[in-house]
Amino acid sequence: MNISFASPKIADTGVLVVAVFQDEALPEATQDVDAVTKGALARAVAAASFQGKKAEILSILVPEGLKGVGQLLVLGLGKREELTQLALEEAGAKIAATLKCTKHTAGFVHIPTIGAKGLSDVQAVTAMANGCLLKSWTFDKYKTKQKPEEKCALKEMTFAASDPQAAEALFAQLKKITDAVFLTRTVVSEPPNVINPDTLAACAEELRSIGVTVEVFGEKELQKMGLNALLGVGYGSQYDSKLVVMQWNGGKKGEAPIAFVGKGVTFDTGGISIKPASNMDEMKDDMAGSGVVLGLMQALASRNAKVNVVGVMGIVENMPSGTAQRPGDIVKSLSGQTIEVLNTDAEGRLVLADALWYAQDRFKPQLMIDLATLTGAIVVALGHEYAGLFSNNEDLAQKLLAAGKTMGEPLWPMPLDPAYDKDIDSDIADVKNIGSGRGAGSSTAAQFLQRFVNDVPWAHLDIAGVTRDTQGKTFNHKGATGFGVRLLNHFIAQNYEQ
Ligand code: BES
Ligand code: ZN
Ligand code: ZN
Repeated sequence: MNISFASPKIADTGVLVVAVFQDEALPEATQDVDAVTKGALARAVAAASFQGKKAEILSILVPEGLKGVGQLLVLGLGKREELTQLALEEAGAKIAATLKCTKHTAGFVHIPTIGAKGLSDVQAVTAMANGCLLKSWTFDKYKTKQKPEEKCALKEMTFAASDPQAAEALFAQLKKITDAVFLTRTVVSEPPNVINPDTLAACAEELRSIGVTVEVFGEKELQKMGLNALLGVGYGSQYDSKLVVMQWNGGKKGEAPIAFVGKGVTFDTGGISIKPASNMDEMKDDMAGSGVVLGLMQALASRNAKVNVVGVMGIVENMPSGTAQRPGDIVKSLSGQTIEVLNTDAEGRLVLADALWYAQDRFKPQLMIDLATLTGAIVVALGHEYAGLFSNNEDLAQKLLAAGKTMGEPLWPMPLDPAYDKDIDSDIADVKNIGSGRGAGSSTAAQFLQRFVNDVPWAHLDIAGVTRDTQGKTFNHKGATGFGVRLLNHFIAQNYEQ
């Protein structure tokens, strides 16, 4: 969808969108449209008992008096004083959701004066446009037989703005982050015969064109370096396992970087501890942690963020085969600690053990955040609403919680505790990769990771429940969400670029 800004006017084609605030008279722009319809708009609003509540929407087809306009949408914006950036993005998403099935190709949003607290009207209108864009994304490149009525006809959205040029400039900035979300959604949505360790690493290499330094280490190098925990997971795969290291140095020279580490299992069959057949296809999402790190690096580099950042992707495919790792194998991790692999399906923590150790050991980061579709147990605990947040540092946790709330990608704090350590102490090695079977599967997994972070301020985001949307919530359609990109971009902008 193409989004642009123009001076306020009453459109004469396609869909026209106007707003109503809760407990207020019709705003001026809406009144102007009402006048053209000779009061039909106001009568329709009254007849439908439309109160202008948040996300309330009224569609009037072939509105009287509005020459050329095929559809008039009245959008509820709720109470003016409650309009935040996020609420405005949600309002924009509501427009996109409502117009998904329209037959019109163009829309004009005539809401130039918003008066949200702490936001200029240009900021407010670009937020709405950004929400509209986020919601309009779909993944349909493999659909070759879509009927015209199944395709979204809407191609052009124009938003009225008091200063269209300023709005264009601000929107261009927001769009960089949204495009990065789309990159993440795309690599997560691509099927596992397209995204494999080779092609995922190649996606990272493309970021060189925007100034990101990218190193790709293959199996031979990783063997020499000693990342045996990561390598073990990939023994059953035809693909070479990889560690990808991306660097963006937009901050002060010599300042310790912030490190992001992503689980990048391009397909998780479970390995020899094989998963049941039903829904196994969903395990193509198991590289979403790496997908978010990739998208985040693109977001930061494309907006020239004033910060030093390292992005590490631990990339493997977890397959059963004659060369696959066995339950019972013991591997020596990069940290020197030995791991007894009792279940080959608890592979994410093996990949992260080496990737985390590598990141903290090489870069001495000021803090480190990993993202992983790590446990089914986090879905049991939090469903698809929150990602689990585990951290050894209260200040870091608070910053992440705040950023998640602001961006509509909420986190919920979960416990790390030395008490969980006894569940993962192995009888014959330093640690085992599954708990002793007394619940708290997400916490024992996180406690396992903590053994590989060496006291660096660290947070682990278990995104297993939020990576895939099954119903098409606020900014998504069914499928990949890109959860984490907006959150972490905001976390950096808010705390580390001042
Ligand atoms: N990739 C899965 C976790 C997962 C489950 C992600 C459901 C998304 C949805 C992970 O590698 C895994 O299989 N974890 C096991 C660990 C268990 C064997 C200790 C799990 O959660 O069942
Ligand atoms: Zn697994
Ligand atoms: Zn997995």
